[in-house]
Amino acid sequence: MRHFLWLIDYTKDEIKEIIDLGFQIKKETKARVFKPYLKNWQLAMIFEKSSTRTRVSFEAGINQLGGNGIFLSSRDIQLGRGEPLKDTARVISRMVDMVMIRTFGQERLEEFAKYSKVPVINGLTDLCHPVQLLADLMTMIEFERFDFENPQKTTVAYVGDGNNMAHSWAIMAGLLGFNLRIATPEGYEIDDFIKEKALEFAKISGAKIEFLHNPALAVKDADVVTTDTWVSMGQEDEKEKRIKDFQGFKVTSELMALSNNAIFLHCLPAYRGYEVSEEVFEAHAQEIFQEAENRLHAQKGLMVWLGKQQKN
Ligand code: CP
Ligand code: NVA
Repeated sequence: MRHFLWLIDYTKDEIKEIIDLGFQIKKETKARVFKPYLKNWQLAMIFEKSSTRTRVSFEAGINQLGGNGIFLSSRDIQLGRGEPLKDTARVISRMVDMVMIRTFGQERLEEFAKYSKVPVINGLTDLCHPVQLLADLMTMIEFERFDFENPQKTTVAYVGDGNNMAHSWAIMAGLLGFNLRIATPEGYEIDDFIKEKALEFAKISGAKIEFLHNPALAVKDADVVTTDTWVSMGQEDEKEKRIKDFQGFKVTSELMALSNNAIFLHCLPAYRGYEVSEEVFEAHAQEIFQEAENRLHAQKGLMVWLGKQQKN
């Protein structure tokens, strides 16, 4: 049995298998062919934070695969009233076949997985958001900005906060071997532990990963430019300070003009006028909403892949 917690225990070949399944199922879905790959599978979806994309894509996805999604907001279940996580894990995992959790600390996800009898998927933690990266990779491939055979041809520029998205990009670049430049304001760099892990993987894959404080240097000749909110869920109290500290880190048309005719990706929700200008957002809406749609297809690929591991 495999979990999908934060990418570090996955190989490039496994990521490719998941993405390939995502493309195959996307094609079938577009043709309105819904094969029951996970017939009668029950997916529990636990949310301790808000969500639009993750909730809808997992719920629609498992239903289209012949299974069923059970949406559990921590506000409504006993977990929110103090029932221990490890008890919740031991109960729920006896009743369902797979669990997706969106929570705060990565340690909560790890604890759940430790006590779970069924595969657990990270639906976002403070540390990382790996399912988003699966959709981002699919989108990069569709827009011909990435190819598993020649990863070193791709340079991605991430401009903004050294948060869960930046962490996920760093690990994915290290694993797959594409180049990544992360530009953050001083004081908002990525976690040292993630940095070390990403660089350790990069030594093997050949990825060039750089950490900068200058958005223009990061974006120069990049094939993909991406960013994320300056104020992640749980950081609402720091909003004012962050907006001041992130001045100069907005993705604008002037910044995009330095790139190699890059596509622009954003995991969403986007805050126009802050991390991205309205102009850049609307000019790249096609990529951004295709990326959002790919959450559905990539996660169907992931769930089917995890189901296969279970059966093996
Ligand atoms: N990108 C993403 O995970 O969006 P939601 O918070 O809406 O799920
Ligand atoms: N960094 C953001 C991502 C939202 C999908 C957050 O954690 O709120």
